[in-house]
Amino acid sequence: MHARRRTVLTAGAAGAAGLVAACGSSGDEDGDGDRSTAAAPETSRAAKPSTRAGAASADGSVPGGEALAKTSDIPVGGGKVFAEQEVVVTQPKEGEFKGFSAICTHMGCTVAEVSDGTINCPCHGSRYSITDAAVVAGPAPQPLAAERITVTGDTIRLG
Ligand code: FES
Repeated sequence: MHARRRTVLTAGAAGAAGLVAACGSSGDEDGDGDRSTAAAPETSRAAKPSTRAGAASADGSVPGGEALAKTSDIPVGGGKVFAEQEVVVTQPKEGEFKGFSAICTHMGCTVAEVSDGTINCPCHGSRYSITDAAVVAGPAPQPLAAERITVTGDTIRLG
C-alpha cells in the first residue's frame, strides 16, 4: 500500500517536473515575451517624466517658451541683455529673476549692458533699475516694459 502511494507520489513529482520542463521549453517563446516585459518598465520610466512635465504644465511653470539662459548665466545683483530676443533678465536678489524689454523707452535703442545695479542704454545714457526697470537716470520717459519669464529648475524661458 505504502509502496503504491510512493509510486504515485513519485509519478506525481515526475509529472510536476514534466510541467516545469514544459514551461522551460516554452521559455523560448517567453523570451520574446520577456522583451515586451522588459520594455514595459522602460515605458513606465518614460511615463514618469511625462507625468512630471504634465504636473509642471498644470502649474503653468512650463509654458513651452524659448529657453533663454541658465540661472547661473545671470549674476546676482546684475543681469544680462539678450539683444536677439530683445529681453533683459536680471537677478536683483539671489533666486529672484526679472524680465524686461530690452528696448529703451526713450527712442527705441536696445539697451546694451547691465552694470552697477542698472540696465544701461548706450544711445543717450538712460539707466533703469534692475529691480523694477524704473528710470534711474537719463531721458527715458518711463520704465522698461515687463517681459514675462519663467524659471524652471535652472532654466530661464521666455513666456
Ligand atoms: Fe535709450 Fe535714448 S534711446 S537713452
